Amino acid sequence: MTIVLLGYMGSGKSTVGKILAKKQSLEFIDFDDYIVENEKLSIPEIFKQKGEIYFRKIEGNYLKQLLQDNKDAVISLGGGTPCFGNNMEYILKATPNVFYLKLTAEKLVERLLPEKEQRPLVKDIPNAEMLEFIRKHLFERNFFYLKSPNIISVNDELPEEIAVL
Ligand code: S3P
Repeated sequence: MTIVLLGYMGSGKSTVGKILAKKQSLEFIDFDDYIVENEKLSIPEIFKQKGEIYFRKIEGNYLKQLLQDNKDAVISLGGGTPCFGNNMEYILKATPNVFYLKLTAEKLVERLLPEKEQRPLVKDIPNAEMLEFIRKHLFERNFFYLKSPNIISVNDELPEEIAVL
C-alpha cells in the first residue's frame, strides 16, 4: 500500500508521515530527501545552481520513478510536487490513499517564519509580506491540492493525532 501526503510547505507532511509509517509498519520516504540523495545536492543548492525549471523537471521524473513501483510506503511530497505538469494526475492514478494536509495561510506563516532560510521559494520574501504571498500562492496551489480524495484540516492538533488517518 502506498500512502501519499501532500500540502504546502510547513504543513507537517514529513512529521506526520514518519509517525504514520511507523504505525502502519510501512517504509517512510521523504520525497525531497529522495531527490537530494539522487542528485547529490541539497534542495537550496539545486535551486541556486540549476534553477527552478530544472528542479521541476527532475521532480516530475523522480515522482514517476518512485510511484511506479507501488511501494509499501508512506511518501511525503514536496509542497510544489502536485502542482506541475501532469504530476497530480499521475499521483491520483497511482494510489487512492492521497491525503492533503490543509492549513490556513495564517498557520503556515506562523510555522514557516522560523525556517524560511531552507526554503528557496520564500527565503527572500520579507516577513511582513509573507502572509500576502502565502495566501495567493496557496490559493493557486489549492487548485491541485483540492483534487486529493482525502482532505485533513489541520488546526492545532499534534502530529500524533493527525497520523491516525
Ligand atoms: C517546494 C517545497 C519544498 C521543496 C522545494 C519546493 C515548493 O518541499 O520541494 O523547496 O514548491 O513548495 P517541502 O514542502 O517539503 O518544504
